[in-house]
Amino acid sequence: MSNHDYSFETQLLHNQYKFDPATGGVSVPVQYASTYHQPSVDKFGKYDYSRSLNPTREAVEEIIAGLEGGTRGFAFSSGMAAISTAFLLLSQGDHVVVTEDVYGGTFRMVSQVLTRFGIEHTFVDMTDLAAVKEAVRPNTKLFYAETPSNPLMKVTDIQAISDIAKEHGALTFVDNTFMTPYLQRPLELGADIVLHSATKFLGGHSDTVSGLAVVKDEELGNRLYSLQNAFGAVLGVQDAWLVMRGIKTLSVRMQQSQENAIKIANFLKDHPLVKKVHYPGFEDHPQYEIHKKQSYGPGAVLSFELESEQLLKDFVNNVKLPVFAVSLGAVESILSYPTKMSHAAMPAEVREKRGISDSLLRLSVGLESADDMIKDFEESLRVSSAHASHQGGIR
Ligand SMILES: Cc1ncc(COP(=O)(O)O)c(C=O)c1O
Repeated sequence: MSNHDYSFETQLLHNQYKFDPATGGVSVPVQYASTYHQPSVDKFGKYDYSRSLNPTREAVEEIIAGLEGGTRGFAFSSGMAAISTAFLLLSQGDHVVVTEDVYGGTFRMVSQVLTRFGIEHTFVDMTDLAAVKEAVRPNTKLFYAETPSNPLMKVTDIQAISDIAKEHGALTFVDNTFMTPYLQRPLELGADIVLHSATKFLGGHSDTVSGLAVVKDEELGNRLYSLQNAFGAVLGVQDAWLVMRGIKTLSVRMQQSQENAIKIANFLKDHPLVKKVHYPGFEDHPQYEIHKKQSYGPGAVLSFELESEQLLKDFVNNVKLPVFAVSLGAVESILSYPTKMSHAAMPAEVREKRGISDSLLRLSVGLESADDMIKDFEESLRVSSAHASHQGGIR
C-alpha cells in the first residue's frame, strides 16, 4: 500500500519519517550541524552544508510535498521568505497579476520591492475572471492568488486562474495558508507553486515563524531549489521540528477549529451590532459554490465588521478569550485588526477602496469551547455598545 492510498489523516502520521531508521526514535532527530565531514576529495556525501541541505529540514520539506500532492517541498525562515524567494523566479521586465486583497506583506513585496527590479504588477479582483483576463499583458509571467483572501475571505477559482495562466504560458502561485492541504490542495487544481506561512495552521501553536513552498514540476523544483540555496532564507532545524510536530495534529485541530468557527460565524451574523460577516461557509457568500467545489470546508478564519470604529475599540478592550494579536491559525483564538496589523503596509486609500474598513476585525478561531467564545463575545458587545453609544459612537 503506497502512502497515498491512506486517508489524509493517516498520512499526517505515517510517512517515511514515522521513526528514525538509525535508532527507532519516534521523532525526527534535530540535526544542528551546519557542515558535514566528507569521506574523501573524490567522494562527497549527500549532505555538505546545511543551507544547501539539512536532514531535519529535508524531513519537513518531504512531508509537506506529500501532503500537498507535489514532488518537492522547500522550507523557509518565514512565509514571506517562501513567497519572496518564489517571486525570484521572475526576471526584469516580467509582469505579475496579483489578487487585490492579498496579505499585506505580499502587497509590500510586490509594490515596493519587485518594482525596484523592473517587475511590473497589476492588482485585480480575482473573483472577476473578466478583469483577470483584461489585466494580462504580453509579458505576464505569473498569476498570484490567495484564497480565501485576507481579510475579506473572497474566493478565487484556482482552476480557472490556472487555466488562464496556462493559456498565456504563465505560472500560478497560490498562498494556501488559510486552508492548509487538509482543506484545499491547489496543485491538484492546476497551480504550479503552493505557498504557506507555516507560522499559522501548519505550525499551529504560535511558537514558530516559518514558510513552505511545494511544486509539482521537477524542472520548476530545480529552479526553486537553486533560488532557496542562493538567497539562503532557509528554515532553522528547531523550527522545522516544531512545524513537523504541528502537522501531526493538523486534521483534528482544523476540524475542531472549523466547527467552532461555523458556530461563531452564525452567532455574529445574527447579532444586531455586526454589520457584516465574511465567511465562505455561508450559502450567501458570493463565491460559496466555487469554494465548495475546490475545498473540503470553509476553514477557521472569518472577518466581521462592527457598527463603528469606537465599538470595535471597546469590543477589543472588553473581550476576554481571544488574544488580540497579529497572526492566525493557532490553538488559541486570535483576534486581529487588519487596518493596524496585517494590512498596515497598505495605504489607507487602497484599503478603503478594497473594502477593508476601519471597523473590520479578523478572527482566527481556535480550540476553546465555541459556547464560551460566544458568551464572551455577547457580553463584550453588550458592554461595548453601552459605552460606545454613550460616546456617540453608534447611531
Ligand atoms: C495569508 C498569509 N500569507 C503569508 C503570510 C506571511 O507569513 P510569515 O508571517 O510567516 O512571514 C501571512 C502572515 O500573516 C499570511 O497571513
